[in-house]
Amino acid sequence: MNTQTITSSQQAIDTEHKYGAHNYHPLPVVLNRGEGVYLWDVEGKRYYDFLSAYSAVNQGHCHPKIVGALTDQAQQLTLTSRAFYNDKLGLAEKYICELFGYDKSLYMNSGAEAVETAIKLARKWGYMKKGIAPHNAEIIVVEHNFHGRTTGIISFSTDPDSTKGFGPYMPGYKVIPYNDVEALERALKENPNVCGFLVEPIQGEAGVVVPDEGYLAKAQALCKEYDVLLMADEIQTGIGRTGKLLASYYDDVKADILILGKALSGGVLPVSCVLANDDIMLCIQPGEHGSTFGGNPLAAMVAIAALEVIREENLTENANRLGEVFRERMRRLIEKRPELVTLVRGRGLLNAIIIKPTEDGRTAWDVCVELKDKGLLAKPTHGDIIRFAPPLVMTEDQLHECCDIIEEVIMGF
Ligand SMILES: Cc1ncc(COP(=O)(O)O)c(C=O)c1O
Repeated sequence: MNTQTITSSQQAIDTEHKYGAHNYHPLPVVLNRGEGVYLWDVEGKRYYDFLSAYSAVNQGHCHPKIVGALTDQAQQLTLTSRAFYNDKLGLAEKYICELFGYDKSLYMNSGAEAVETAIKLARKWGYMKKGIAPHNAEIIVVEHNFHGRTTGIISFSTDPDSTKGFGPYMPGYKVIPYNDVEALERALKENPNVCGFLVEPIQGEAGVVVPDEGYLAKAQALCKEYDVLLMADEIQTGIGRTGKLLASYYDDVKADILILGKALSGGVLPVSCVLANDDIMLCIQPGEHGSTFGGNPLAAMVAIAALEVIREENLTENANRLGEVFRERMRRLIEKRPELVTLVRGRGLLNAIIIKPTEDGRTAWDVCVELKDKGLLAKPTHGDIIRFAPPLVMTEDQLHECCDIIEEVIMGF
């Protein structure tokens, strides 16, 4: 076999299966090109992307401005490590602080790294500012959370797929139900050593679970009352996806610690960031935290370009408008096939439908395979949920075309 070229989808699947770890269960489609809302497979078939790499490609595939920033900077300087200054990191730090209204930012790479950073920050703040005794800080999290895959983060996951066989788990976390302010208050009352409450404003991986209106605002008020940091993981919900720049804004909430990732690079390379004000961020001192690639000049220029595209192309407003259109179309579909599609939920262009398994055992997976055959890529989660999250650069006509495809598949299923 020629190791330099893949000439068919089957060859690519076989090669990955033979040489790659089996840590994912991908839909059987092999992609080799993307532009805007479209992806093409190895055989040249075109698809609408309805996953956006789990909301990392909000700006559309290979956005020319972001790719331009990448290639320009790649020819100048890519990495210095933080042993030295570079002339781009400060620009990206200033840009993101001004955009989201924080004193300081700390760039990392993956989302999980940013979450780990936020946890370390909250603990350090707990010891330095709240006066918690060493090793006693606790962080409250919620059921069905998804914050990443490190051993630290899975220690407070409630998903057996994430945890089983990977123990021992790290102590220092308390899990409470999501969307339950009374449970939060009880947990805060019970333990004076709580330093942070880590929460997704909408739970993405759990299946686009939208909490009650006011949940986050009430959580913030409780956190203030008990001197605890509200940590919003907006890695999936942030940067325009839900029809506001941050999903927290639906509740007029500005978290004490904001965690961003995914679309912060428009999907061209891993860039994540944690934002906080000085009284929190300056608890971490030189030498106490970092990453070789975190804050590299390539990522810095990409992040600025990715955020500019969101603003310049009004992608947040587009997500909000098209989200309404999408959910209305899905509601009409539910009226037509209530025994198969039971629910549509979401905000902006982060939505999900629930598919009831058929009597002959076909599931959301089979719906996704049929959608793929008809030219639309989406992925099931938890067996019965399909998340729909197209790039935010989609037009209304394209969205209707996609809804037609979904309708055709559902009606024929
Ligand atoms: C809310 C949330 N937090 C954290 C992560 C982890 O990000 P990464 O996969 O970049 O580590 C994800 C990824 O899906 C996520 O959705």
